[in-house]
Amino acid sequence: MRLILLGAPGAGKGTQGALLAKGMGIQKVSTGDLLREAVRRGTELGLEAKRFMDAGELVPDDVILGMVREVLAEAKAGFVLDGFPRTLEQARGLDEILDELGIDLDAVVVLDVPDDEIVKRISGRRSCPECNAVYNVYFDPPAHAGICDRCGAALVERPDDDAATVARRLEVYRAQTEPLIEFYARSETPVRKVDGLRDVDEVQAAIREALRP
Ligand code: AP5
Repeated sequence: MRLILLGAPGAGKGTQGALLAKGMGIQKVSTGDLLREAVRRGTELGLEAKRFMDAGELVPDDVILGMVREVLAEAKAGFVLDGFPRTLEQARGLDEILDELGIDLDAVVVLDVPDDEIVKRISGRRSCPECNAVYNVYFDPPAHAGICDRCGAALVERPDDDAATVARRLEVYRAQTEPLIEFYARSETPVRKVDGLRDVDEVQAAIREALRP
């Protein structure tokens, strides 16, 4: 299965992508996670990306496409893309990569969540910098406050999760990423809209249902 998960910041792409990857035996490819890892390691790419991320802006398309091309070539069992593509340029670049690899997308899943819920979810998010597990102090707290259940590392708040940066990320989403829904609606890849304003398990079940042939 080869999927794109589209949705606003905080809509639950990472959460649902991880469940889909685990349940379907496919790879979750999150450009946000790849970039945060590069920032953490202090690579040249990470240093360049950090200033865009901290401002709530998008990292340049050529940087992202180079990064994704390498990963997709290795994702033989299938993949779910979380946070990519985010611009028309990236969507066209993805089409080229898929052509080169001789593969097609199976579906685009759009997670629909209203802005007030998004702001609450993001303000409660805590992430593990070691294994990328994601928690929420309101909806899905770890067993021991501030500690990752999975690997025991100290949880952190993302630097781009403050209110002003979230507001900018939402603007950028509306202007640059939301138009991709129309782009894919005009393509041969089916677009499935899913109500994301439900419990994590209910959203997962709705996505699975929407992906049934
Ligand atoms: P990225 O990491 O992709 O961030 P994002 O798209 O803004 O999405 P988030 O990670 O904030 O949210 P999510 O939808 O994954 O939600 P989550 O599951 O965590 O990108 C960050 C930055 O990197 C960008 O701003 C940009 O600078 C750069 N970047 C990344 N990709 C790029 C690209 N392709 N091109 C250019 N730049 C790029 O859930 C959020 C919270 O809600 C969590 O706490 C979770 O536990 C909770 N939650 C999830 N589902 C539910 C539910 N159903 N009910 C209650 N709580 C829930």
